[in-house]
Amino acid sequence: MDAPSMIIAPSILAADFARLADAARAVEGEADWLHVDVMDNHFVPNLTIGLPVVRSLRAATPIPFDVHLMIEDPERWAPGYAEAGAYNVTFHAEATDDPAALAKTLRAAGSKAGLAIDRDTDVTPYLELLPHFDTLLIMTIKAGFGGQKFLPGTLDKVRAARRHIDAGHLEVRLEVDGGIAADTIEAAAEAGADAFVAGTAVYGADDPAEAIRRLRALGSVRS
Ligand code: DX5
Ligand code: ZN
Repeated sequence: MDAPSMIIAPSILAADFARLADAARAVEGEADWLHVDVMDNHFVPNLTIGLPVVRSLRAATPIPFDVHLMIEDPERWAPGYAEAGAYNVTFHAEATDDPAALAKTLRAAGSKAGLAIDRDTDVTPYLELLPHFDTLLIMTIKAGFGGQKFLPGTLDKVRAARRHIDAGHLEVRLEVDGGIAADTIEAAAEAGADAFVAGTAVYGADDPAEAIRRLRALGSVRS
């Protein structure tokens, strides 16, 4: 099966935490991945969900999980998410000294490996590591909370990463996360993103499935 030209990954951070299985089902057939934001109250001030929730939710939906770890010490915790059946596990460049080694561990544990770059981090030093990764996530806000305003200045990093990926013919998804909505997805797609996380824009909508269809149409500028 060919890889889809673009990925829409609704973030359950914006869903009702008492009804996570319902939130997953509401986007089945429309979402490519389900984005799961794991925050530890150390790497970021917020605290969300962890491995037991991911394990339970994994059994409740067939949608591939895109786990975004905003945690310290990802070497200790990230492999557990791969073993729990996550499709992709992304950890932050700022949280580890040896991203390539952890990517290798994740792939060996059965998931794709993703590297996340927060708002204030330059992507340049990490571009040479991309052959170790399946996903590069560029934060388009400061990591930590949903519902923030999209920062257009972060798209310079998306453009640089897109040039590097295309020049090297790398098989890397270029994902953006933060403030992605009907009025911002087109700019992110034009900059070169091909995977889009959307929390508020999907779960804040009356009809999450319809919101995804709309985002997909607006973001389809590259295909
Ligand atoms: C924030 C998270 C995002 C968040 C995005 O640090 O990484 O995935 O859910 O939420 P919105 O789409 O509302 O900006
Ligand atoms: Zn996220």
